[in-house]
Amino acid sequence: MIQLKSKLPQVGTTIFSVMSALANEHNAINLSQGFPNYSCSERLKNLVNEYIQKDMNQYAPMPGVYELRKALADKAKKLYNIELNPNDEITITAGGTQAIFSAINTTIREGDEVIIFEPAYDCYAPAILLAGGIPKYIELEFPEYEINWTHVARVINSKTKMIIINNPNNPATKILKKQDLEMLDKLTQGTDILILSDEVYEHLVFDKKTHVSILMHKNLRERSFVCFSFGKSYHVTGWKIGYTIAPPKLTNEFRKAHQFTVFAVNTPIQYAIAQYMNESDDYNTLSKFYQEKRDYFIKGIKNSRFEILPCEGSYFQLLSYKNISDEKDLDFAKRLTIEKKIASIPLSAFYNKNTDNKVLRFCFAKTDDLLDKGIEIINEI
Ligand SMILES: Cc1ncc(COP(=O)(O)O)c(C=O)c1O
Repeated sequence: MIQLKSKLPQVGTTIFSVMSALANEHNAINLSQGFPNYSCSERLKNLVNEYIQKDMNQYAPMPGVYELRKALADKAKKLYNIELNPNDEITITAGGTQAIFSAINTTIREGDEVIIFEPAYDCYAPAILLAGGIPKYIELEFPEYEINWTHVARVINSKTKMIIINNPNNPATKILKKQDLEMLDKLTQGTDILILSDEVYEHLVFDKKTHVSILMHKNLRERSFVCFSFGKSYHVTGWKIGYTIAPPKLTNEFRKAHQFTVFAVNTPIQYAIAQYMNESDDYNTLSKFYQEKRDYFIKGIKNSRFEILPCEGSYFQLLSYKNISDEKDLDFAKRLTIEKKIASIPLSAFYNKNTDNKVLRFCFAKTDDLLDKGIEIINEI
């Protein structure tokens, strides 16, 4: 029998798989995992078909189809008023996840420290550990989920190689303000600290607030890998396609890892999205679309016993159950799935120490009929 010493002994099955499996087993409605249950645009689907029929079915260029990179440079100009060179600043990836994995693995060495804020999306720490790095966890201050920059300043030292920010934040549903970026700039000036900015929810920002991308900050941009996902912007999470924007020197390193993890991303979808982007700016309607969903959901549950936490962005709503039970959040979430037939994600799953503030995450990227079912159950709890 071979002996295999795990490189990730602490990593088990993700909470998303656990809760989705439990939801299936108990026939519960699934508001746990973050994916829409509605279709993407018909036009986009037809374009994918067209490019498959046109036989654009062989390997794409390693950095991605040029037309798509060009469309993304045009978009960045429109949205963030920056000039990007599609040749050496944009790389198409197999979703945000591969973008994050490649950025970390091409820069982090044995013993390098990487700061991540908790609750944290779950792919950051394993990628750091596989690279031999050391995750340095900093909790966002509950219940506002603000970054305590004084604390960050204390954690930074000569071993700090990277800081990961997630804006808008999943699962905290918080967005960063200009002042946050100013603080980040102040703390990193004169250092070689890199920034990984996970902005996969860039279009899902509510209440007339705007997304403050790291791309808009001249100094920070020079040290940043900025990761995006078409899955979130076009309701196609299963296509696993995204991109990374980084200055030429960083892109050059990024592509060294990228070319040996996926080499290139599937070709017909890249052509289809490029053409779709040239025809339509419909990502501009996403904030309104999702804000309506958020408002529908919270209006429906406003008289429930849950406390509704503010949601500034992403497609998740956090609910505190501190007035309902003092059970551990994982136990409570499992019990709701089994007994009440509604699945959510306990926030402790996003903390390395399983910090439990009695908060559950519900995904509202769902059709009204499914949200109605969820609302009915939540009101009965
Ligand atoms: C914060 C965050 N980053 C990255 C990703 C991964 O994106 P993708 O599905 O494109 O790999 C997700 C997906 O849920 C996410 O929520």
